Amino acid sequence: MKFLLFLASLLLVVDSVMVVVNGKPDPSSKANQNPNATSWEKCVKYCSEEVTCLLAYDNEGKCEWFQHENITKVKQTTVLEEEKVAFKVNNFSTSSCPSGLNPPTFDNQDAHGVLLIPGEYDNPNRVNYTIKYTAGTWEFSYFEQNACPTDFFVLLQRENIQWCMSTEITPDRPFTSFSYDAAVTTCDNQNGSVLTGATNAAEMEKIKTMQSNLLSWGAVPQESFALRLDGKRTTACQATPRTASCMTDEVRKGVHED
Ligand SMILES: *[C@@H]1O[C@H](CO)[C@@H](O)[C@H](O)[C@H]1NC(C)=O
Ligand SMILES: *[C@@H]1O[C@H](CO)[C@@H](O)[C@H](O)[C@H]1NC(C)=O
Ligand SMILES: *[C@@H]1O[C@H](CO)[C@@H](O)[C@H](O)[C@H]1NC(C)=O
Ligand SMILES: *[C@@H]1O[C@H](CO)[C@@H](O)[C@H](O)[C@H]1NC(C)=O
Ligand SMILES: *[C@@H]1O[C@H](CO)[C@@H](O)[C@H](O)[C@H]1NC(C)=O
Repeated sequence: MKFLLFLASLLLVVDSVMVVVNGKPDPSSKANQNPNATSWEKCVKYCSEEVTCLLAYDNEGKCEWFQHENITKVKQTTVLEEEKVAFKVNNFSTSSCPSGLNPPTFDNQDAHGVLLIPGEYDNPNRVNYTIKYTAGTWEFSYFEQNACPTDFFVLLQRENIQWCMSTEITPDRPFTSFSYDAAVTTCDNQNGSVLTGATNAAEMEKIKTMQSNLLSWGAVPQESFALRLDGKRTTACQATPRTASCMTDEVRKGVHED
C-alpha cells in the first residue's frame, strides 16, 4: 500500500472589510454579546477578527455580534436615531473606494461576503452570503458548503490562494514502481491536481495529522506504506543547501521523500 499527496481545487481568498452604517437588526435576530468590547471601535474590530461574525451592532453602547444562522434582516435607521451596525463584506476593489447610496449595497448593488468556519479535520464550512437592499431593509441570503470536497481533504492557506489537499491511496507494490512521474500523472488524472509537499512546519503538521487519521480510519493497513511528497528548496537555498539557515522548516519548500 502506498500513497501520494496531491492538491485539488483552488480558490482566491477575498479580503473582507467592515462597513459601518445606521441600522438595527430585525427583532427576530439572535445576538451574541461581547462584554469585553467596551467601545464601538473594539466591537467592530472583534467582529472583523471573529471568523463566525458577519455583523456587529452597537446596542446602546453594548457590543452585539451575529452569526449567519441568527440574522436575516437589518433595518436602515437615520443618523438621528444614532443606531449603528457594521457589515462584514468582501473588499470591493483593489484600487478605488466605492461610492453610492446605502452602503454596503452601493446604489442597489448586492454586497457579498464569505465566512470560513472551522469544521472537523481541517475542512471548514464555507458560508457565502449576499446582502440585498430593498426599501429600507437589508436582507441576507446564505449558501453553505464544505470548503473541500470531503473530510479526506485539508484546506491550506498559501498566500492569497486556498488549496484543498488530500492523499491518494494506491495498492501498488513493490514501492519502487511508484515513481515520481507516476505520481504526477496520478495527480493530473484527479481533476488536474498537482503533487505537493509542505511549504512550512504548520503544513507538515497537517499532513502528519491527516496520515494518522487515515491510519485510525483503517483507510491504509497498519503494517507498511510509502508516502511521496513533492518538494524543492527555495531559490535562495538552492545554491547553499547545507548552511544552517537552509536546514530549517522555514526555508524548505517541503522535503522530497519516498
Ligand atoms: C446562533 O446560531 C447558532 C447555531 O444555530 C447557535 O448555536 C447559537 O446559540 C445562536 N446564537 C444565539 C445568540 O442564539
Ligand atoms: C472576555 O474576556 C474573558 C477574559 O479575558 C475571556 O475569557 C472571554 O472569552 C472574553 N469574551 C469574549 C466574548 O471575547
Ligand atoms: C483591499 O484590497 C486591496 C488590494 O488587494 C488592498 O490593498 C487593501 O488593503 C484592501 N483593503 C483592506 C481594508 O483590506
Ligand atoms: C463563494 O465565494 C467565493 C469567494 O468570493 C467564490 O470564489 C465562490 O465561487 C463562491 N461560491 C459560491 C457557491 O457562490
Ligand atoms: C472532479 O470534479 C467533478 C466536478 O466537480 C466531481 O464531480 C468529481 O468527483 C471530481 N473527481 C475527483 C476525482 O475529484
